[in-house]
Amino acid sequence: MENFISERTKLLKPSATLYLNRKAKEMKMKGFDIINLTVGEPDFDTPWEIKEYAIKAIKDGYTKYTEEKGLKELREAICEKLEKENNLNYDLEEIVVSNGAKHSLFNIFMSILNTGDEVIIPIPYWVSYPAMVIICGGIPVFCKYNDKFKIDIDHLKSKISKKTKAIVLNTPSNPTGIVYDKKEIEEIAEIIIKNKILCISDEVYEKIIFDKEHISIASLSEDMKNLTIIVNGVSKTFAMTGWRIGYIACKKEMADSIAKIQGQTTSAPSSISQKAAYYAIKEGENLYKNMVEEFKKRRDFLVKNLPNIIKYPYPEGAFYMFLNIKDINSKELSEKLLMEKLIAVVPGEDFGVDNYIRISYATSIENLKKAIERINEFVEELI
Ligand SMILES: Cc1ncc(COP(=O)(O)O)c(C=O)c1O
Repeated sequence: MENFISERTKLLKPSATLYLNRKAKEMKMKGFDIINLTVGEPDFDTPWEIKEYAIKAIKDGYTKYTEEKGLKELREAICEKLEKENNLNYDLEEIVVSNGAKHSLFNIFMSILNTGDEVIIPIPYWVSYPAMVIICGGIPVFCKYNDKFKIDIDHLKSKISKKTKAIVLNTPSNPTGIVYDKKEIEEIAEIIIKNKILCISDEVYEKIIFDKEHISIASLSEDMKNLTIIVNGVSKTFAMTGWRIGYIACKKEMADSIAKIQGQTTSAPSSISQKAAYYAIKEGENLYKNMVEEFKKRRDFLVKNLPNIIKYPYPEGAFYMFLNIKDINSKELSEKLLMEKLIAVVPGEDFGVDNYIRISYATSIENLKKAIERINEFVEELI
């Protein structure tokens, strides 16, 4: 079978996350009281009104293929959202709806990368960025972080070459939960404009933000808007991960090329999910306000109760924290936490950082209380 597998696929590294997840599941099946802090999706159900709207769509017969770029009314709702919430004007033809933001990203890399083109990916990164760049024939070029776990500007400048096609920006960030300030985004934008590269701005955690306003890099200037491809979706904001709806907003030529790829691969996302996403985006804040408040309470609880010895960048958004415990190697630390304290976490190695682990607080406060007790015990035993 080995002979049949493409060289491209062989370039992908096996993920340490999957290995630990499997181990945690096996232990849970054997009856161990595992606390799972690996989860990458809200632990809340999709709001009932969204489900009802989708049920009505089925009853009304919305069961056919939609336009390649997505349902017109959904794209209209996205344009309205971008104008109202991000101060950005896009035309209907500049929006493409896909099967989740992950699929949007894949379509983008497929449409911009020639073999050997480079994409700058700031560390720590969401695991799928480098994997997708490699699948599409590109080369991920990693950029170091500064003391706030944000892009190290000097390093970024040194990494731009003639082959650089794009940079990925993710704020609020998975895995750290950090959020970029306007000034920091302006600094990055200046470099992007000067070098005429694209910015793939992953804004899927836009609404899960606690102490700040989200700023889309595209909103800084017309020049920056022309070089940005915004990626967003309904998965995280509306607890709709399983519905698989994401979208992009960018210049029409790029949107057309992305739609061409989509048209020949998936046609378009599910018509029912698009209807549900339309309702979610139209209704907006009322549907996610309570969930975000709950995430904030959990973030505050963790920040207050994690032992002092644990270091982390201060989380201002998403539902993750990135922890360092006495510089212990991330894989070793994850295994120890699982085997000794029955806590499942994600090793930072998968995000490009060896001595950190990612925890997710997309779980109940009761579970987080138990986790804190066990982490405290773990830390005491280390000293
Ligand atoms: C940073 C980031 N971008 C994109 C995605 C993809 O989201 P989806 O495909 O569910 O819309 C995720 C999901 O975990 C993510 O963490």
